[in-house]
Amino acid sequence: MKIESVGVLGAGLMGAGIAEVTAKAGYRTVVREVSEELGRKGLARVEGSLGRAVEKGKLEAGARDAARARLSMTTRLEDLAGCDLIIEAIVENLDAKKEAFGTLDRVCGRQTIFCSNTSSLTITEMSAATSRPDRFAGLHFFNPVPVMKLVEVVRTIATSEETEKTVLDFAKSLGKEPIRAQDNSGFVVNRLLVPYLLDAVRALEEGVGTREDIDRGMELGCGHPMGPLKLLDFVGLDTTYAIAEIMFNEYREKRFAPPPLLKRMVLAGRYGKKSGRGFYEYGEGK
Ligand code: CAA
Ligand code: NAD
Repeated sequence: MKIESVGVLGAGLMGAGIAEVTAKAGYRTVVREVSEELGRKGLARVEGSLGRAVEKGKLEAGARDAARARLSMTTRLEDLAGCDLIIEAIVENLDAKKEAFGTLDRVCGRQTIFCSNTSSLTITEMSAATSRPDRFAGLHFFNPVPVMKLVEVVRTIATSEETEKTVLDFAKSLGKEPIRAQDNSGFVVNRLLVPYLLDAVRALEEGVGTREDIDRGMELGCGHPMGPLKLLDFVGLDTTYAIAEIMFNEYREKRFAPPPLLKRMVLAGRYGKKSGRGFYEYGEGK
């Protein structure tokens, strides 16, 4: 199946990045947010990132303008009805995702392929809310989307071979390198990454080291580009907490349990970089 237009649900950290790469790759891209203000914020994020790429000589000004012209923002789910492929990147909450997919299922044509960027939910539980589990797959991007090469493509027992092939080819057309993963909570990467990140919070809680020493340890000792506490701030502590809860409920294993400190930080509104404060402080001069 030929994909020409893409719908993106959510213009937060991930949705904005996904819309940027689909528009840059030549797809007409319609992004849906819940309010005009959040839509504007999402577009500003895409424009900022495209602008940076031009400044660094990585993108021609003409290509930036063409990508921008392919992008539109809406608050109406119905405006995604004509898209060939839809990528959902809204909050990590099963009920919210099921509701969105249930509505899209009613308004979109039978041929439209649905994909979820979920970090920890299973694709099967979302696809069951639609009449098209054969045209439903996981398409899991990594943050920051314009930079990270990997996407995980997830086929459930109901996903058709044709859908999987279309999604794999689509991922490659974005310049990404797909790997295939089974429909298990966390797929490949988060199954390994999430226990490590949660353990770093436990290490901080237990006074194993300061935030700086824990991060520097993993950066200089293991060659990681970011230490675990910086990475948690980057991913979002609210999102990580939701992911940990989902994976813990799925596997009932302590390594996935959210540490109390993570919960307290979320309750205190310290979501990480996106809220200005997490394990570190962000803003001018910080
Ligand atoms: N959006 C777009 N581009 C960005 C960006 C952003 N938010 N942040 C950085 N970049 C670009 C920069 O423009 C720069 O590009 P150039 O080479 O053209 O200069 C490039 O990334 C490198 O940036 P910097 O030199 O400023 O910074 P850096 O060398 O420290 O790299 C980083 C930044 C790529 C984010 C790097 O620190 C890194 O790889 N961190 C780890 C990221 C990671 O692990 N991501 C996975 C998170 S888990 C996940 O996504 C799954 C999930 O379900 C939770
Ligand atoms: P975010 O909080 O930055 O953004 C979520 C956005 O979705 C918000 O702007 C919100 O207003 C919007 N939204 C909520 N309900 C909506 C709806 N019904 N329709 C349209 N928009 C809606 O979250 P994020 O970090 O971008 O995460 C989004 C998804 O991507 C989650 O499933 C998350 O697990 C996954 N993910 C996150 C990361 C990461 O590093 N943050 C990496 C990979 C995957």
